[in-house]
Amino acid sequence: MTILVTGGAGFIGSNFVLDWLKASDEPVINLDKLTYAGNMDNLASLEGNPAHRFVQADICDADALKRIFASDDIRAVVHFAAESHVDRSIHGPEAFLDTNVTGTFRLLEAARHAWGPNAASDGRRFIHVSTDEVYGSLDRDAPAFSETNTYEPNSPYSASKAAADHFARAYHHTYGLPVIITNCSNNYGPYHFPEKLIPLVIHRALKGEPLPIYGDGTQIRDWLYVGDHCSAIRRVLEAGRLGEKYNIGGFNEKTNIEVVRTICALLDERRPRSDGQSYASQITHVRDRPGHDKRYAIDATKIATELNWQPAETFDTGIARTVDWYLANQGWVDRVTSGAYKNWLEKQYA
Ligand code: NAD
Ligand code: DAU
Repeated sequence: MTILVTGGAGFIGSNFVLDWLKASDEPVINLDKLTYAGNMDNLASLEGNPAHRFVQADICDADALKRIFASDDIRAVVHFAAESHVDRSIHGPEAFLDTNVTGTFRLLEAARHAWGPNAASDGRRFIHVSTDEVYGSLDRDAPAFSETNTYEPNSPYSASKAAADHFARAYHHTYGLPVIITNCSNNYGPYHFPEKLIPLVIHRALKGEPLPIYGDGTQIRDWLYVGDHCSAIRRVLEAGRLGEKYNIGGFNEKTNIEVVRTICALLDERRPRSDGQSYASQITHVRDRPGHDKRYAIDATKIATELNWQPAETFDTGIARTVDWYLANQGWVDRVTSGAYKNWLEKQYA
């Protein structure tokens, strides 16, 4: 049998596919539209591997989805494909509605029709990969998000992910589709597109450019190394209870300014600036993100106790690995930051 991964040429999806094929013989169909965020370079090491089949398609294309379910016996869907960047959702929300809501709906429909009413007992699984942002923003001293927190999405991105979560949940409740939802905190690691904070800062630091901190930089995110997110999803696929939600996080709350200063210190050690100054001197405070969520934090107790999952990396080890990966893979960074990337920077940071 086969697993269908959507969005497997993006940041987390490509890490998931690479990790999966290291540990399993079960083949993967990797369906990705290849938007600006999808990159076949991430999958270069799989070239010629018969266990990996790439299909360029849009999850909104019902016929394309139907063809895949008809041609292969899909045991499980792991659904990553999405528009994922909050700032882009502020400039252009419609693509988020299309892919994240309509696309997820089409995928649920395709699975429902192909698998029929016995999907659960036949061992099928639909893992819907979502975000902690659906829960909204936390006050500084509030408890971390648990699976029972209410949904209070604040950006067009998080609203579209929340809508998709509701459809996924409803397909389990109404049709018995074997859905499990995961809500994860901020990821970082290899193949992270340099529009997001951590890879953007590494890239711009090395180029001698300003490091843009939105507002005062005291917003808090809860960081998880991407390999740990992938291991959590594998565990949920293996043993998660149908119709349940699992929060995934690493208990690594950091302010943005703290994250940026940590990256600067690592670069100071590994690739000192020729003028002897710290990369931290490039930090610049810029206009804040509209509606910027103040704090996210995940309570990952449920997945830890029920499924015995723990992250392998601390923030210190994960961020050092990440900086080292970017230093060793400047060719990858150069290729993804040519072309349309420059237009995005002008729009966002001009
Ligand atoms: P990404 O933007 O790096 O990758 C998204 C991938 O989806 C790309 O390869 C893109 O080409 C593909 N895609 C986009 N629209 C598509 C469409 N209509 N049809 C088919 N493919 C399409 O995103 P990511 O950071 O890897 O996030 C993956 C998933 O994980 C998303 O659902 C996101 O909401 C969720 N998530 C991300 C994080 C994070 O910190 N990055 C945290 C929690 C959850
Ligand atoms: O929490 C999970 C979410 O994390 C995922 O669902 C999203 O797909 C993913 O993009 C991420 O969203 P964030 O908005 O938290 O990530 P981003 O890297 O864009 O920003 C992290 C923090 O850094 C946020 O508070 C905004 C701030 N920031 C970001 C950029 C790009 C800056 O201060 N300056 C910047 O230039």
